[in-house]
Amino acid sequence: MTYDPHYRLPRVLKNEDDSNPSNTAPNATFSEIAATRFSRRAALTGLLATTALTAAGGLVPTRARAATAESSLTFTEIPHAMDDKLHVAEGYSAQVLLRWGDKVAADAPEFDPAQQSAEAQARQFGYNCDFIAFMPLPAGSNASDHGLLFVNHEYTNPHVMFPGFADDKAAAEGTTAETAAIELAAHGASIVEIKREGDGWMVVDGGQFNRRLSLNTEMELSGPAAGHDRLKTSADSTGRNVLGMINNCGGGSTPWGTVLTAEENFHQYFGGDPAGTAEAANYKRYGIKGEPSYPWGKFVDRFDVTKEPNEANRFGWVVEVNPYDPAQKPVKRTALGRFKHEAATSVINADGRLVVYSGDDERFEYVYKFVSNGTFDPAKGFENAALLDDGTLYVAKFAADGNVQWLPLVHGEGPLTEANGFKSQADVLIETRRAADLLEPTKMDRPEDVETDPVSGKVYVVLTKNDKRKAEQVDAMNARPENKWGHIIELTPPSKDGKIDHAAAAFTWDMFLQAGNPADAAQQAKYGATVSDSGWFANPDNLAFDPKGRMWIATDGFPDHGVHDGVWATDTAGAGRAATKHFLGCPQGAELCGPAFTPDGKTFFVAVQHPGEDGNYDQPTTRWPDFADNMPPRPSVVAIMKKGGGEIGA
Ligand code: FEO
Ligand code: CA
Ligand code: CA
Ligand code: CA
Repeated sequence: MTYDPHYRLPRVLKNEDDSNPSNTAPNATFSEIAATRFSRRAALTGLLATTALTAAGGLVPTRARAATAESSLTFTEIPHAMDDKLHVAEGYSAQVLLRWGDKVAADAPEFDPAQQSAEAQARQFGYNCDFIAFMPLPAGSNASDHGLLFVNHEYTNPHVMFPGFADDKAAAEGTTAETAAIELAAHGASIVEIKREGDGWMVVDGGQFNRRLSLNTEMELSGPAAGHDRLKTSADSTGRNVLGMINNCGGGSTPWGTVLTAEENFHQYFGGDPAGTAEAANYKRYGIKGEPSYPWGKFVDRFDVTKEPNEANRFGWVVEVNPYDPAQKPVKRTALGRFKHEAATSVINADGRLVVYSGDDERFEYVYKFVSNGTFDPAKGFENAALLDDGTLYVAKFAADGNVQWLPLVHGEGPLTEANGFKSQADVLIETRRAADLLEPTKMDRPEDVETDPVSGKVYVVLTKNDKRKAEQVDAMNARPENKWGHIIELTPPSKDGKIDHAAAAFTWDMFLQAGNPADAAQQAKYGATVSDSGWFANPDNLAFDPKGRMWIATDGFPDHGVHDGVWATDTAGAGRAATKHFLGCPQGAELCGPAFTPDGKTFFVAVQHPGEDGNYDQPTTRWPDFADNMPPRPSVVAIMKKGGGEIGA
């Protein structure tokens, strides 16, 4: 299809809760503050809009400025498009490395989409690849030519996986015990050994670390909520043993070589009658309404809250996985809270404590960070994992004057008492959202990834969009009503003598960019001055930083504006700040996930998720990546390299 700016995909909203947001807490969205006072933020933006300070990296309301400054990113941009192909900047190669159904376990059968089984899927690469971590081999090295790929499998699209369904609604209605079992096996994550050979990468067949994690994998709960009565089920009287993980979206890796994978939209898997359970208020706050997108509860009791009222409390956590030890059970770390975690980004603070940032991805939800009590000791290896069980979870309250306060979610402090239904820290963590509401944090426009810049130490919070924000709910941090485009906020932790304090109770913030089309003044887009016609985008989702500290932005939702999803890259400082450049575009129906670099910055892994989601198995809108008549589109991981070698982006 040729590019038509007016073409609009029938967007499938399978993996987000498109109903009313579940945050009805009365905390203000700062509209009062924004309305009654001329904020420093507004003054700053106004100043930059009318002066020539943009060469120093300021925001501009339109792109109508002379291109006097240069980005450090030297690739030639690709144009906006919308077709059935993957596009990458000239001079770069794109190798499809792992597709849905590819062999992971040594004994996995060949993929046959016409003869699928749960047994086969449990050993093959799962569906809808999302977060990617490149974990070097040997462990602890900086190797960039040999390693493990840890890849999330966020969710399933049965209308594209199986023949005979017009759309996702028909596929849900047609779910059988057999297709449900395949879908359970297609969720989770894959760990696959890979090696670089010359200009490309190869999967190591039968690699000793290769394994699949699914909804049937034994996992443990640890931390303050583990063993609590509210986590006990008929299958688990200890409240410490869970089968599997759900809807793993973003993630991160730890300094001791494990992966943190984040359970996001867990609500859409639980049927039954939540209002009739002791967890009614809790489940309502998370959007569990007894109308699941996946009607698995008809076949598997634990996905029916009437039959198993506590099972849903065992999902919505950050899961730690040691990719280097296939015998080690994944661990759900309850101290990091229970919500729709987009990601989990670790950083060692200057004082040695571990800080983990995470967003809660729903309209009007919050941004969180966890700060460990203990300090990281490189000599202790995996024993450092205990840091994730003992610390304080904070939620962010932004102010229009540029300050951020981190409010502690500690049982017994402030309103987090028995009078409000919190008998212990376990209750605070199981109902993180309801506890946070009482502290009145800032309701944001769908917090997605949170990433730290390894060079500057600044922290970036991605807000993907919020079409439900009304004009009277606009604030300095979420500055547009019916925000269809999303924005990125820059957080600056305090620092002293070059030591950055991620654990501090107060940060400052600034608007990094507001996405949308800068040529349309009504959209109030804000980029660096040199952004081009194809440099603008919408709906930022996941971020990765290259070794030079440049930001690579993956999008989810740009097709709603007539353009493929993909990757845009930018400097965060200097002349090219927030002047995004278009590097990669997805095939039709897909979003781009999991951007991850090798330590040398010479390979860039991306996950192409749900290609052809806008069609179905029988009539796909693309057959990417195989383009074979008998093969449906397959979500896949792609390795991007510079032809002839060299750093991505240069
Ligand atoms: Fe799975 Fe927040 O996207
Ligand atoms: Ca996401
Ligand atoms: Ca990321
Ligand atoms: Ca995504």
